[in-house]
Amino acid sequence: MPSQLKSFSFDASILQHQSNIPPQFIWADHEKPCTEPPPRLDVPPIDLGGFLSGDPESVANAARLVDQACRKHGFFLVVNHGIDMKLIEEAHRGTNYFFGMPLEEKERALRKPGDHCGYASSFTNRFSSKLPWKETLSFRYSAESRFSDIVGKYFLDVMGEDYAAFGRVCQEYCEAMNSLSLNVMEILGISLGVGPSYFREFFQGNDSIMRLNYYPPCQKPDLALGTGPHCDPTSLTILHQDHVGGLQVFVDDKWHSITPNPQAFVVNIGDTFMALSNGIYKGCLHRAVVNSTTPRKSLAFFLCPRMDKIVTPPKELVCEGNPRIYPDFTWPALLEFTQKHYRSDMKTLEAFV
Ligand code: SIN
Ligand code: FE2
Repeated sequence: MPSQLKSFSFDASILQHQSNIPPQFIWADHEKPCTEPPPRLDVPPIDLGGFLSGDPESVANAARLVDQACRKHGFFLVVNHGIDMKLIEEAHRGTNYFFGMPLEEKERALRKPGDHCGYASSFTNRFSSKLPWKETLSFRYSAESRFSDIVGKYFLDVMGEDYAAFGRVCQEYCEAMNSLSLNVMEILGISLGVGPSYFREFFQGNDSIMRLNYYPPCQKPDLALGTGPHCDPTSLTILHQDHVGGLQVFVDDKWHSITPNPQAFVVNIGDTFMALSNGIYKGCLHRAVVNSTTPRKSLAFFLCPRMDKIVTPPKELVCEGNPRIYPDFTWPALLEFTQKHYRSDMKTLEAFV
């Protein structure tokens, strides 16, 4: 990492008053966002209402739509997902509050070198050859019952008593995301033909990650990116974006916008699930653009297997016509690799194995 980037300190409030942005944020021409908004990705939201009530026809229908989306690009939307809208709004409100605090306060949670959790405002992470125009707060979630308050405790320990209530909201939000991701795993098991419980069981006791993203307005949104192009190394990402919009996916050789829908979660397949499906389901390149007027927020839950789980596809997905593509690995090994070697023009999983 070039040393001038390492020591560069990002203060979005100061940058917003300048007419130019520092060169560390300006992407190469071939990676710059398009000046005109790209076309929308035409994906019908998958209604989970019937699935949740156990209606066999709805279950089969959800599995068919998920199968189509995951063979093609690995992105789909879910609605009627059973998550309380009030909880989602509270999580967005708390996120606004946190990122609205002075830098010194946010830096109580400052990410330590080598760690992937904590507050980060300017860094060359695995998703960027350039600095991302954003601030993030990431923390661990564990679905194991002995860590039932890991998120709440993190906020209390790191940010103090004033953040206890927001910590509880984030703990509850992660639990809701865990439950939704296990439901999606049930559908993925059905759609891949290995049965509803295979992947649900695989992800019991998962060690997942939650990230709050805050993208300040940028006076040169045509030169910068909020999040550079990347595929998620995790298993499944469940994202809720606010009303502003900015998420784009690369499908059929061009960028497409994912229109915000407050009732919907965006779900995408990560590299680890691509390996679990023996390459049958795809992960997809995506990025987040910024704008010059309105701050944007997104809440991302990254489902990851328990640290010691061996990522290996079920035998039903391996045959003569579809031999093993990726060798066995553990999630921490892939994470370490992506943090060290990521390049936006590289297929990380292929380079890893
Ligand atoms: C990400 O993919 O890391 C963030 C996407 C978003 O904020 O919409
Ligand atoms: Fe992502």
